[in-house]
Amino acid sequence: MVHLSPELKSRLSIPLSIGSFEVNSRVLQSPLSGVTDLVFRRLVRRYAPASMMYTEMVNATGLHYVKQLPKLMEVDPDERPISIQLFDCRPDFLAEAAQMAVDEGADTVDINMGCPVNKITKNGGGSSLLRDPETAEAIVRAVVKAVKVPVTVKTRIGWTEKEINAVEFGQRMQDAGAQMLTLHGRTRAQGYNGPAKWEWIGRVKQVLSIPVIANGDIFSVEAAIRCLEQTGADGVMCSRGTLGYPFLVGEIDHFLKSGELREPPTASERLQCAREHLQMLWEYKGDRGIRQARKHMTWYAKGFPGAADLRGQLCNIETVDQGCELIDRALAQLAEISADLDANRFDRLTAEVDSESTSLAIAS
Ligand SMILES: Cc1cc2nc3c(=O)[nH]c(=O)nc-3n(C[C@H](O)[C@H](O)[C@H](O)COP(=O)(O)O)c2cc1C
Repeated sequence: MVHLSPELKSRLSIPLSIGSFEVNSRVLQSPLSGVTDLVFRRLVRRYAPASMMYTEMVNATGLHYVKQLPKLMEVDPDERPISIQLFDCRPDFLAEAAQMAVDEGADTVDINMGCPVNKITKNGGGSSLLRDPETAEAIVRAVVKAVKVPVTVKTRIGWTEKEINAVEFGQRMQDAGAQMLTLHGRTRAQGYNGPAKWEWIGRVKQVLSIPVIANGDIFSVEAAIRCLEQTGADGVMCSRGTLGYPFLVGEIDHFLKSGELREPPTASERLQCAREHLQMLWEYKGDRGIRQARKHMTWYAKGFPGAADLRGQLCNIETVDQGCELIDRALAQLAEISADLDANRFDRLTAEVDSESTSLAIAS
């Protein structure tokens, strides 16, 4: 049984201040490439209206040459609070991209210094900046100078186990003008494997005066509370736990604010959410949206009788109608066998979601 201590409740009951910008929630939805587009954020926001959300990461060099806003940088006009995340190694390109982000409506601009993917690190971006703190510092200084909104950094604890430099790196980002640091408690070498080392997040929190947000392995309300207690962090950021489960950020936010657990969605409610997600992706992106929807659909279809078969079919859909028909059929079957709805409540199956979703997402 998860318990919210009075100390934690009162510490986190005030708004999160990111420089001059205030956010009325201590739970954030992370940037996830291929996932956190405008459609996904709309679903998360329905259950967590006050939470900060992030776009997928955007390449500043691409923006410099194309000068056209890519779809992944699009923000709903009434979508607040929102941060646009950028990656690159060129301070001048990042400063220019940050101005475009602000024009699009970003409340804060976040710089990705944690992505482990070779394609990004070999060009000097993402987590490779952990090994090049001079450039990382120059980036933050240039972006802070270029925009009026707060600039934040999302990074990892180090490049390898032997090169953990989160404390010095975080201090340097703060000195350069970053207004918040989100720390994923893994090294670049870990990728997404092994447990996140929250103890490093606690060490960084102890020395920084800007807010420190804990990230890594937040798959449930219980994990979020444990992480906040252990690290003393100013908030938590959910990532893979939200794949096929846009309810998580809202569940944690609700618990932190009320001390009460929100009733988890039933299998049918999750499938209805999947159906809506599919339709919205189709309306927003057309055929490309259907291709992207396949992985989302397989993440939703878990933990009820017939889920494995449904996953196999959903990952091959070609049209929105095909997907909706499959989901409608599954919903009808669930209704038949759900004399007792409780029997169909979703087991969170975090370990399964964790490993399957990551490999699917990264493969896509
Ligand atoms: C599919 C996928 C895409 C991701 N895309 C981004 C991204 O665009 N920007 C970013 O800063 N981190 C990205 N991440 C990293 C997550 O935001 C997060 O730091 C990481 O998954 C650790 O949290 P978790 O253990 O709760 O999943 C991505 C992770 C995954 C699995």
